[in-house]
This record gives sequence, C-alpha cells and structure tokens, in this order.
Amino acid sequence: MLIRIPAVLEPEALARARQLLEGAPWEPGELTAGTQAALVKNNLQLPATCAQALALQALVLGALERHPLFFSATLPKKVFPPMFNRYEGAHNTYGDHVDKAVRYAPGTGVRVRTDVSCTLFLAEPDSYDGGELVIADTFGEQRVKLAAGDAVVYPGTSVHRVEPVTRGARLASFFWIESMVRSDEQRRLLHDMDRALMRLRARDGESDEAVALTGTYHNLLRLWADT
Ligand code: NI
Repeated sequence: MLIRIPAVLEPEALARARQLLEGAPWEPGELTAGTQAALVKNNLQLPATCAQALALQALVLGALERHPLFFSATLPKKVFPPMFNRYEGAHNTYGDHVDKAVRYAPGTGVRVRTDVSCTLFLAEPDSYDGGELVIADTFGEQRVKLAAGDAVVYPGTSVHRVEPVTRGARLASFFWIESMVRSDEQRRLLHDMDRALMRLRARDGESDEAVALTGTYHNLLRLWADT
C-alpha cells in the first residue's frame, strides 16, 4: 500500500528545516548502505547524530505525531530517527535496492523492523529535474515526486530507486516505521475502514452504526496489534 501524506510539514517548519539543511555537514551516503546497496548508492547524507540532524529529527517526529493520516496509515510502534539526504551534482542517484529488514539507530540502541518506508520531500519539485522515487509494487512501477512538506509511505519490502537528479538539488528525509500491525494487508484493511468511518461520521455525526463500526475497527486492531 502506497499512500501520500500531504502537509506533514507546514510552510514555517519547512523553512526552518531548509535553514538547518543549508549549513549541514553532508557526507557520502554509501557509508550507511549495505554492500549490495552501496554499489548503486550515490548521494549525500547528514551524519545521524550531528546537531542539525538532531534538530531536524525533533522537527519531523513532532510533525508526524500530530498527523492523523500518518498514524492511520502506518499504526506506528517505533519510528526510526529520521535521516536526511541530498541528491545534487556528482552525487545524484540511488539505483534499485531493497532496504535492510532491521535498522539500528546509531548511539541509541534503538532497533526498528522496517515494515514501512517513508520519504518526506523537502525541496519544491520544480526546483530540480529528475529525482523521482520509483517504487515497484504489485500494481507496477509508481513514480513519486511530491510537493515540499508532503510524504509518501510504502511497504519496506519493495524494490525502489531514486532517478538521477540532472538540475538543482533534491532534499528529503527518509526513515522507517515498525508497525503495531506487521502485515501490509491487515494495515490496509484497517486504514480503509478508518477512512470510511471518518467520512461516515463527517456526514451523519455519531450514529449508532458509526459507533458500532468504530468498535469493530478497534476490535480488529486489538486482534492484530502487537504493542
Ligand atoms: Ni531505500
């Protein structure tokens, strides 16, 4: 399931994020890739524990906590501390790869199973050419290039790549979510039901039927969630 999450960062937070990224100590992205991914990875990343990365992590995690769609779509149990990358000039692409199944956050002892991958776009799409996130899923290839501040979440199991950036700079945050509900299929059922319920309640208010279906949603979540 691939879901666009609009306006994770509002314009003010986005401006603050870009300011932090300006003076950041970028380093080659290969340093954090496994041996297979390192062969196709050619971008820049922020060291996970530099001052700018820590400030940016707090900014992104705070915004995610306030976003109901992010919660509904991913049902997070643990969120990996967000990382930040830059595709520009000679460091402009990341070929087809799969993300590691388990990620360790440096210096924190945090271990996250990568059920869901997330990319949060930080540069306006018209400020760079190329840089589409291409995700292979059961519906074929999805090409994703979103407005700054928007995010996409997609199954951690998929093969994906970032197309070469041929003009400008693509800035993004990327991270993984270990979900309370491990199965993508079950998460999808819950998310679809949650969205239908929100529309039903907006239309009819708290009807007996809406209360009963909300109960069913929570009973399914209780059945499937691992906290
Ligand atoms: Ni990846």
